[in-house]
Amino acid sequence: MSHQNLPKNSALAGPVLAIESSCDETACAILSSEGVCLAQRVVSQDGHADFGGVVPEIAARAHLALLPGLVQATLKDAGMTPDEVGFVAASTGPGLIGGLIVGASFAKGLALSLGKRFVAVNHVEAHALTARLPGLVPGGAAFPYLLLLVSGGHCQCIAVEGVGRYRKLGGTIDDAAGEAFDKVAKMLGLGWPGGPALEKLAQSGNPKAIPLPRPLMGRAGCDFSFSGLKTALSQKLAPYGLEPLPHQFAADLAASFQQAVADVVADRVTNALKMMPEAGLLVAAGGVAANSVLRARLEEVAASAGLRFAAPPLRLCTDNAVMVGWAALETCQEAADLGLPQPDDSTVRPRPRWPLEDMAARFTPQESVV
Ligand code: KG4
Ligand code: ZN
Repeated sequence: MSHQNLPKNSALAGPVLAIESSCDETACAILSSEGVCLAQRVVSQDGHADFGGVVPEIAARAHLALLPGLVQATLKDAGMTPDEVGFVAASTGPGLIGGLIVGASFAKGLALSLGKRFVAVNHVEAHALTARLPGLVPGGAAFPYLLLLVSGGHCQCIAVEGVGRYRKLGGTIDDAAGEAFDKVAKMLGLGWPGGPALEKLAQSGNPKAIPLPRPLMGRAGCDFSFSGLKTALSQKLAPYGLEPLPHQFAADLAASFQQAVADVVADRVTNALKMMPEAGLLVAAGGVAANSVLRARLEEVAASAGLRFAAPPLRLCTDNAVMVGWAALETCQEAADLGLPQPDDSTVRPRPRWPLEDMAARFTPQESVV
């Protein structure tokens, strides 16, 4: 719809208190009806590193332990009492079901006790709309734009055509980009999450030193595949067995891997932009969008297509509750623009899978998002 970046309808009755708990970040944020962040807190859970990945059960228990204090602290930061909250929102899928149940149930309970509405937010939709937060992208992020979502759990090219209107153009057929970074970092003996450590090591390596494949590069479409790259890399390590890797070799491998990922992603996004000639902007989101080599390549890709490139700052690229609150506000505004009742999703159940294509049903009277 026409509303661009700024909900204009004061009937939205914010502020919105939003909760994020779909993976291993426990987060709460409070946004005004206009999308101004009044307070936000994120706790990145630390109980997973010893296991080399997120343990769903540990994550769910940690969300449960953290949320009450986190919500109280966020309200205090905003200088608000619970009564001043206009409505409550939470990531309700897709993600790890235990954490989603904890966060969504907490949010529904809070809404019920305050006599306010609850709005269920699709976590991927929240990533997709983040670039539209007021003041984030110079010149704004008007629809339509292409979103590259690259995180530990997601790797997709999405045509963002409007609130609730998304088309998945392509996605990974095996690992997500962040997952590949994490697995390769593990092979190189780096800690978890591996992406940032791998990028740091790559700074002292030569990206051309070790030849690695570029899976799917040059092929039609914009699907991704990283498992062949990971296997090729493990074969380079095989001669060393359990011996520690020489530092320069490890750095060269890290740099060569990072370059291969950047090359593949650039190729896939170039194709995605051809599939979406109407796009006015290229947006990158998700933790891997923090990678500076990848960002530089995406800027080149956007420039050669005559487009602007935008990547929200890291704290908004990785999981957070500001994006959840913003997506809820955009959803409410879209409903208002269409003359539909304001959403009240207290009966919507958390779901581990929730395709973006289903979001259009929200704005189709008589249909339900459940
Ligand atoms: O979006 P995110 O915080 O969480 C979800 O997966 O939802 O993304 C985390 C992923 C991890 O796989 C991490 O290794 C990767 O993003 N990552 C990076 C960098 N920073 C984080 N990958 C490559 N380079 C980085 N600088
Ligand atoms: Zn995410």
